[in-house]
Amino acid sequence: MSIPVVTAVTGAPWESALVAGLEAAPNGLTLVRRCIDLPDLLAVAASGLARAVLLSAEQRRLDRELLDRLAASGVAVVVLHAQGDDAAVARVERLGLRHTCSADAPLDVLADTVAGAVSDLLAAPVGVTQSRTAAPAPAYDRADPPPHPGGPERVPGRLVAVWGPAGSPGRTSLAVGIAAELAHRRVPTVLGDVDVYGGTVASMLGLLDEAPGLAAAVRLSNNANLDLRALAGLAPEAAAGLRVLTGISRADRWPELRPAALEHVWALCRELAAVTVLDCAFCLEQDEELSFDTAAPRRNGATLLTLERADTVIAVGAADPIGVARLVRGLEALREVLPAVSPRVVLNRVRPGPVGPRPHQELAAALERYAGVRDVAFVPDDRAAFDVALRTGRTLAEAAPGSAARQALERLAAELVGRPAPRRRRRVLARAGR
Ligand SMILES: Nc1ncnc2c1ncn2[C@@H]1O[C@H](COP(=O)(O)OP(=O)(O)OP(=O)(O)O)[C@@H](O)[C@H]1O
Ligand SMILES: [Mg+2]
Repeated sequence: MSIPVVTAVTGAPWESALVAGLEAAPNGLTLVRRCIDLPDLLAVAASGLARAVLLSAEQRRLDRELLDRLAASGVAVVVLHAQGDDAAVARVERLGLRHTCSADAPLDVLADTVAGAVSDLLAAPVGVTQSRTAAPAPAYDRADPPPHPGGPERVPGRLVAVWGPAGSPGRTSLAVGIAAELAHRRVPTVLGDVDVYGGTVASMLGLLDEAPGLAAAVRLSNNANLDLRALAGLAPEAAAGLRVLTGISRADRWPELRPAALEHVWALCRELAAVTVLDCAFCLEQDEELSFDTAAPRRNGATLLTLERADTVIAVGAADPIGVARLVRGLEALREVLPAVSPRVVLNRVRPGPVGPRPHQELAAALERYAGVRDVAFVPDDRAAFDVALRTGRTLAEAAPGSAARQALERLAAELVGRPAPRRRRRVLARAGR
């Protein structure tokens, strides 16, 4: 069966030869339209007229976002380049595209390439986030022990998403705390702020919140200009072994965190560090259900993509009746949107006040009854420790090392990497009888 294709090669010197060739000897391709610009191409793609597009490598707006939108419309992409233009091929490959063809290749070669692109697109899994074109994430078995990059057989690092419902249950505090504890254990760690409603990781750590950080990484990735070195430059070390990718300080900057490019940034983070801890926003609503324009940017796309790609999702709830009710509803929503995700549930700010004299038992029983959660971790309410940390822009490990909250974070970090904490000096001193 002939594959309906469109071209988007306006201005390329080989355009007329290509079109004349396709019209004279289609070789299994039917040229249904010559698109004059990208809006034209996107409209045709959305109409379902074409199965594939022949795109010029010289197209200046050939970026991850465009590829993502074409993939979402079910249109495969083949990039045509001038013969011997290795730079164009390399750029296209950095965008995660495998189907390229020299513009002067025989038409049967082009037809084979198009057929390959179409069957790859059909075989690609489609997640809740529509991205099908970003560089593939390295294979990583969730059950594997945590990797340690740097050796000759580098194992991709792990992604840990810290999420929780509305009501400020302590997502950022836990993400920062867990990342700091991992670094303290000498596990190379990246802490990323992907809160699309306004990130606070930078201010919590006393960093400049106008630093380019994640938004810059996404921008570079969208244009195929992000590599490991550039990512490392955008994620400076805030403490030994702890790199920080700061987020968007203003909520209205959310369109800068484009899911298509974010996927590539996360894949690179897996190369940069053994563990990447990501502070996510609360909202899981799939905006396209609210609008008919499925290709419109989606505010929660970054959150959904991150939760979908994470190896571990930590779901944080506040340890009071309202916080638990919100967490129960949040877990339900998470199950609906991402049924494969099985989160590690953590209740934060545990104290007897709002739930009674035996808060751990009461809270565990409520979560089992209403959400079927059998295993809950607890972080105590420790206002004094967090106040010192906030006042000094430091982590609990630095500002309140002996605090109860810090010990709970240490346990969560240990769970993630399965390594005991480095021995505390206090214990050494105690053994020495001092
Ligand atoms: N275990 C704790 N004990 C005492 N205070 C805590 C604890 N955890 C977090 N807090 C405090 O609760 C407040 C909210 O925490 P945080 O900013 O981490 O929440 P969040 O869920 O990220 O909120 P947002 O919705 O703003 O992103 C902060 O003042 C923080 O210091
Ligand atoms: Mg937060």
